[in-house]
Amino acid sequence: MFKLFKKKSTGLRIGDTAPDFKAETTDGTIKFHDWIGDSYAMLFSHPKDFTPVCSTELSRTAALKPEFDKRNTKVMGLSVDSVGDHAMWENDIGDVAKHFNGAPLNFPLIADNDKKVAELYGMIHPGELDNLTIRSVFIIGPDKKIKLIMTYPASTGRNFLEILRALDSIQLTAKHKVATPVDWKHGDDCIIVPALSDDEAKGLFPDGWNAVKSYLRLVPDPSKNK
Ligand code: BEZ
Repeated sequence: MFKLFKKKSTGLRIGDTAPDFKAETTDGTIKFHDWIGDSYAMLFSHPKDFTPVCSTELSRTAALKPEFDKRNTKVMGLSVDSVGDHAMWENDIGDVAKHFNGAPLNFPLIADNDKKVAELYGMIHPGELDNLTIRSVFIIGPDKKIKLIMTYPASTGRNFLEILRALDSIQLTAKHKVATPVDWKHGDDCIIVPALSDDEAKGLFPDGWNAVKSYLRLVPDPSKNK
């Protein structure tokens, strides 16, 4: 006899509304949804201030901040450290920058000492790092919905160029009826979404497409003409 257990979901998923919160940051108190405003946002956590991989990640993200700005995307870091620790660590991030194509810190960090935000976003994984936040990334849209979630182990530094690439895809596919193939980058050919019939596609893509398969129809990146 089988017993059916309904597993209760604890995690946030793509499409969920990003939980709102009030928090202390290195730029003062913020209310998260108000801070996002009409922009996209990247909320990302690191395990601990004054640790090596985290220092490289934050300096690299600082160097890429102009790229996030170009994409109308605000950047906010988070760990369970205090504002005072964040402020002291900032000098080290500047020192590390020259070794990792980075830059001095130029975006706010949440001081989540009480783990309120970390718990709200499921950033604490006791099996991976006891009571510290692991390397989580949430991309959130102006509609406050979660568009992307990434989780990396503490031992693996993230590639923030990949996050920018995904952001380009997310923003493009929000505007056009396309999806982006493997390894796609801005300007490469895109795929007409399978939900569009050929007849419907003719209206949106009057110059036609290259049908690699009947369901894999390639068109130039529609944002290139804008
Ligand atoms: C690091 O950033 O190097 C790190 C932090 C926590 C655990 C392991 C590595």
